[in-house]
Amino acid sequence: MERRLRDCDEFFRYPELGHLPAQRRLSALAELRETGTYRQTAEEILIGAKLAWRNHARCVGRKHWRSLKLLDARQVTSADELAGVCWEHLRLATNGGAIQSMVTVGPQRVPGRREFRIVSTQLIRYAGYRNGDGTVTGDPANIAATEQAQALGWRGERTPFDVLPVLISAPDAEVRYFEVPRELVREVDLAHPDYPWFGSLGLKWHALPAVSNMDLDIGGITYPFAPFNGWYVGTEIGARNLSDTDRYNMLPLIADMMGLDTSSVRTLWRDKALIELNHAVLHSFRAAGVHLVDHHTVAKQFCDHAEREAAAGRRCPTDWSWINPPTSSGLTPTFHRYYDEPDLDVRPNFVKRADA
Ligand code: ARG
Repeated sequence: MERRLRDCDEFFRYPELGHLPAQRRLSALAELRETGTYRQTAEEILIGAKLAWRNHARCVGRKHWRSLKLLDARQVTSADELAGVCWEHLRLATNGGAIQSMVTVGPQRVPGRREFRIVSTQLIRYAGYRNGDGTVTGDPANIAATEQAQALGWRGERTPFDVLPVLISAPDAEVRYFEVPRELVREVDLAHPDYPWFGSLGLKWHALPAVSNMDLDIGGITYPFAPFNGWYVGTEIGARNLSDTDRYNMLPLIADMMGLDTSSVRTLWRDKALIELNHAVLHSFRAAGVHLVDHHTVAKQFCDHAEREAAAGRRCPTDWSWINPPTSSGLTPTFHRYYDEPDLDVRPNFVKRADA
């Protein structure tokens, strides 16, 4: 409780809330102390969520923290309604490809009571199926989530890109699965501007990265149901999701198609294949009219942001290892400097759940 009172006190002292009457901080503190909770206004939640984004040490996209939109879903009372709110989030945030940064906020935590939460790590994830011969169809990162959905009765088509249902747990019910309406899942088929064969690999990725298993902590109040999204950095898809050996592991096949000499790592066949895969991601998203940023541009934007924050006299907690791209880091400005301590304890913030 001491911690939450401190967070509340600090929250209402942020200059971003300076226009509120001084009395607001005192009444919120008093109510929190007496009842263990208090109700924030939608404006306080929106400002709190923007600050949570600005404070989050692992995000390289923070230059855009002011553009966040809020979908206030605190009034919902059932898992069905919350699923509906998630679909509304997908529709508004995907925005026909012009991705809008957004957070949806469900009922707040009431100490001692069970709560609504999304079990799935993101609103859109691809299933991963273990095959009899030890291989995996789909995304190996989501095998456990796929098996959980199957245990609840869900059946996928077993393609490499089956969209998993969203799993939601409610206070008085078992976890349930909700099939994502197909028309809300914007996807981009990958092609390469110079390699006509690339399209035949059948690769694609979805447009919206919407993290759904973190708590949003604002002013001593926790929102366990708070899916949020920005837009993708190309390398998340091209240099991790599709290339990591424990994910889609596509580099051997791409290198093969490129006719590279794969007899030794020293031929840099993996590096060459990786660059072309990333080129395909950037090219295809642009051709499809879906917003995504390349690692050079986002790194420059982040350095501008960090400098502006410093000039404004604010700390900008930053985790060097998270904000640098997984490929070509040394080519980006984020690599060549130090930052404020990557303090994840600052509030407001998006917080990893204890059980996630
Ligand atoms: N790296 C995650 C993925 O590829 C997404 C994390 C959030 N990314 C973002 N650009 N907001 O699925």
